[in-house]
Amino acid sequence: KITPVILCGGSGTRLWPRSRASFPKPFLPLVGDRTLFEGTIARAADPAAFAPPIVVTGSAHLAHVESQLAGHDGAQVIVEPSARNTASAIALAALRLPEDAVMLVCPSDHHIADDQAFAAAAQAAAALAAEDWLVSFGIEAKSPETGFGYLQRGDSIGDSGGYQVARFVEKPDIDRAREFLASGDYAWNGGIFAFRTGAFLKELGEHRPAILAAARAAVEAGREEGARFHPDADAFGQIAGESVDYAVMENTRRAAMVPADMGWSDIGNWHALRDARDGDENGNRVHGDAELVDCRNVLVETDGPRVSVIGLENVIVVVDGNDVLVTTIDGAQLVGKLSGAVNQ
Ligand code: GDD
Ligand code: MG
Repeated sequence: KITPVILCGGSGTRLWPRSRASFPKPFLPLVGDRTLFEGTIARAADPAAFAPPIVVTGSAHLAHVESQLAGHDGAQVIVEPSARNTASAIALAALRLPEDAVMLVCPSDHHIADDQAFAAAAQAAAALAAEDWLVSFGIEAKSPETGFGYLQRGDSIGDSGGYQVARFVEKPDIDRAREFLASGDYAWNGGIFAFRTGAFLKELGEHRPAILAAARAAVEAGREEGARFHPDADAFGQIAGESVDYAVMENTRRAAMVPADMGWSDIGNWHALRDARDGDENGNRVHGDAELVDCRNVLVETDGPRVSVIGLENVIVVVDGNDVLVTTIDGAQLVGKLSGAVNQ
């Protein structure tokens, strides 16, 4: 069975004022009625295919994680003493599992519309992982995003449906991103990975021995507390934080990908969130008390005050407590830079 490893880190200032440090993006019901975290757990909960999940998170998110995990028997939580990015978060989970376990590493802050397509891709990825490929989910690239990793499609691997990754480029600049998009050879890295734990740890040890050594020391000196595991803070604190994309995926020769057409979105900002939600006949998306007249493709979300909008198109209005955000679709990518979002 595949072990889901759920990563729960960052704070998500780009969805301010709904997402806040105290209540970040994964734990909000942003699309539909389950939270992104609950959706992530539910997608990998079929007991025929999956073992209980391991969630890796920091103490700041522990209360949200445990309340939204309720009812999932056997789930474990690894509580990071400090945030050291994803290479070490994944290493902690890998070091707690048998060498031959296949893990499916899932970010907790993505939306996936098609659970069945996800399940099919997970099976294909797990089969390749069992043969020691380090497998990414490849998402069709639709724009020259600079916040994603890019996977260059290489040779196909037998009849697995997967491909070797000829080159993995994490967060290219805009010129390279445009080049990759135009070439048609590149997919976005969806940030979901399948690894055999032994294969992952071997590659980590080859390319980042210091991260592996510190993570191993942190696990060896760690302590169990019921379903929680606390790695040793001193050992873990030695780690220079680096993402798995830079630390391992850009360097390994065993990178592979499975194409996954599953309605994926990382809900990176309000524009992406608008597009992930179903609109009414005018394309408007309304959550809360609002009246729209002669509007098209407008998103309104309010937790109280009634919002009235007339005659606008492609505008986003968000009311949360004492904060009101009004932006165009293009402006949505700048929300994280607002002083309200920075100093929340
Ligand atoms: N436990 C833990 N600890 N989780 C973490 C940490 C950490 O220190 N840092 C980040 N995470 C979690 C985040 O909460 C998120 O769920 C996931 O790991 C990925 O981290 P991000 O910070 O969101 O990465 P990114 O979006 O910049 O880039 C990654 O995802 C893209 C797709 O959304 C990369 O894998 C890119 O290549 C990829 O395209
Ligand atoms: Mg992300």
